[in-house]
Amino acid sequence: MSIVDEIKQLKKERNAVIMAHNYTLPEVQDIADFSGDSLELARIAAKINAEVIVLCGVRFMAETAKILSPAAKVLHPAPDSGCPMADMAEAGEVRAFRKENPDTLLIAYVNTTAATKSEVDLCCTSGNAEKIVSALPKDQKVMFLPDANLGGNLVKKLSRPMELWHGCCPIHDRITPEDIINARKEHPQAVVMVHPECKVEVTALADHALSTGAMLTAVKENPANEFIIGTETGILHRMRKENPGKIFHPLANAPVCSDMKKITLEKILATLKDLSNEVVLDPEMMDKARKPIEKMLELSK
Ligand code: 13P
Ligand code: SF4
Repeated sequence: MSIVDEIKQLKKERNAVIMAHNYTLPEVQDIADFSGDSLELARIAAKINAEVIVLCGVRFMAETAKILSPAAKVLHPAPDSGCPMADMAEAGEVRAFRKENPDTLLIAYVNTTAATKSEVDLCCTSGNAEKIVSALPKDQKVMFLPDANLGGNLVKKLSRPMELWHGCCPIHDRITPEDIINARKEHPQAVVMVHPECKVEVTALADHALSTGAMLTAVKENPANEFIIGTETGILHRMRKENPGKIFHPLANAPVCSDMKKITLEKILATLKDLSNEVVLDPEMMDKARKPIEKMLELSK
């Protein structure tokens, strides 16, 4: 039996669903019951009724699934797959900031640990950040964490001051304005889409700055047939599969998130076989972390 068939059979036996982020390996996305961006995965986790969820993505995504689906056994096939940006806003540091700034509302990008989420007022993803931030009174002092690039893009687009934490995604932060200029020179007809985790000077040169889920919709709806994609290259798999007549160019330095690639079919199979790598979180902390996520889901309906 092939590894894919073995996973399919075990999935049935375990009453499990497999959820995968758009940056995971092509074969992982292909075996998944649901693939999506952080917001889509969170929405599914909030309403799904599965005994077992195998979350293929980085650790904060598996933690979010557990927080939103506490009765399910949430398995994370590669426990060492973390998001370096999520580790840039440590819970203790955030608690200390809150103590010194009691009037400031704390918004955490979903790329944070469960412990950090339990310290904040509201969460957002790149798919709903504009909506969430726009819903706040303009005179409300806000600290946006941990991504200074996403936060900076929101400040600029919404003309809304916010204090920004000192974090970033190392993969998107490495993308330069020259990468976009050079790609445009090479493919002058192409529409340029980048992720809002890119620097403000990079998003300024793109036609659109969108979450991975919004990008997938936008390339489908856009009548153009050539696109330059300024984000992690894992997304190209679904773009090409869903739009066979269109051409997608990665940037020259092809940004790759090595943590997302740690989830392999072999690890999914092993995890399903012995129901290992379960995400276990302190129940009290989970209850606290659920509040800002649920507020986010409510505000972004
Ligand atoms: P999306 O929510 O747009 O998929 O982004 C998640 C992420 O980690 C981007 O680096
Ligand atoms: Fe984190 Fe960046 Fe990887 Fe996304 S691409 S999971 S933000 S390190």
